[in-house]
Amino acid sequence: MPPAALITGITGQDGAYLAEFLLSRGYEVHGMVRRASTENFERIGHLTSEITLHQADLLDQLSIITLVRDIRPREIYNLAAQSFVPTSWLQPLLTGEFTALGVTRMLEAVRLVDPKIRFYQASSSEMFGDVREEPQTEKTPFWPRSPYGVAKVYGHWITVNYRESYDIFACSGILFNHESPRRGKEFVTRKVTDSVARIKLGVQDKLYLGNLEAMRDWGFSGDYVRAMWMMLQQDRPDDYVVATGIKHSVRDLVELAFRHVDLDWQDHVEVDPKLFRPAEVNTLRGDANKAREVLGWVPSVSFAELVQMMVDADLDRVQHEIDDQKRAAAFNPPAPSPSES
Ligand code: NAP
Ligand code: GDD
Repeated sequence: MPPAALITGITGQDGAYLAEFLLSRGYEVHGMVRRASTENFERIGHLTSEITLHQADLLDQLSIITLVRDIRPREIYNLAAQSFVPTSWLQPLLTGEFTALGVTRMLEAVRLVDPKIRFYQASSSEMFGDVREEPQTEKTPFWPRSPYGVAKVYGHWITVNYRESYDIFACSGILFNHESPRRGKEFVTRKVTDSVARIKLGVQDKLYLGNLEAMRDWGFSGDYVRAMWMMLQQDRPDDYVVATGIKHSVRDLVELAFRHVDLDWQDHVEVDPKLFRPAEVNTLRGDANKAREVLGWVPSVSFAELVQMMVDADLDRVQHEIDDQKRAAAFNPPAPSPSES
């Protein structure tokens, strides 16, 4: 029998890459999705015949217990969360419910149904916030700077606590920013690459951004989901930083993305003070030596390759959108005005 895995947040960026990865390893893949009035399967549409989707919600304990009891997975990957930092100031309580208490609900289901299930928690470099040292390791103290970061600190420690209290095989992956053509358009990398494509193809003029000096350690999501799986294949559970070890500013990102299409970013980018955050994480850079030494994990995509991959994918997608619009206009020409008829 192939091993079964349950992914929460399967409709998100990482969920889609992880589902593909686990399928390639022969897993029976189950995904938890929350009920919506319209389906939101854009990232996993190509996988729906190979995976099984189940409705449940991080807010609803009974739905999670029932789901885990029905599937009895070998591994659970808890990727679901309210993951956009600015929204966490607008919806701090909901962020706490999803991103913090949601983790306990998942762990309670593991404890009650089968404490032998292996559990992965999607922790975040956002927990380091106002960084105490550089680079950040598994031992660096946390100083979160957003309600999202605070909620992730809770999720991290409750995972450690269930490991220590109940001997559950629970791992926390402290992942630094990771991106891809599947990244949500509100995050800065995708906002930039989508805008670069639109500007290059003549359907947008300006790109408004916030803090250009913020620095992040950006990697490729496809590499990072491999690290999640590796953590659950070890003899004992532990926590790992996953990062490239190299940081760049938002300004570097913008320069590189515009240069890739032979444009000068200064002609198109404007800073909008409304996009600055109430408290900023100025800089993040991870030390993934433990993941390299214990898991054998190394990233395969550089920052420059990542930005090029995302710009190229957006150029392709925006060009298709423009072509579709032209075709639709040709099939449905505007009705003639009364003076023309
Ligand atoms: P994402 O694209 O925003 O996906 C989030 C997923 O969570 C979506 O599938 C979403 O479902 C689901 N979700 C949200 N609330 C839910 C609820 N109440 N019940 C069930 N599902 C719910 O995030 P991502 O970039 O893939 O990141 C995956 C995880 O890693 C998140 O926990 C994030 O905080 C964490 N993380 C991400 C990064 C990064 O750089 N990407 C770094 C460190 C940690 P809908 O489609 O229905 O909205
Ligand atoms: N989103 C956004 N939009 N960010 C901007 C903009 C803008 O217009 N202009 C500048 N930035 C800066 C932000 O202030 C921040 O310092 C940086 O770009 C990165 O922002 P995001 O891409 O929104 O990511 P994040 O670092 O806040 O959070 C992401 O990474 C975390 C891991 O460190 C998310 O994926 C989190 O879920 C994840 O935990």
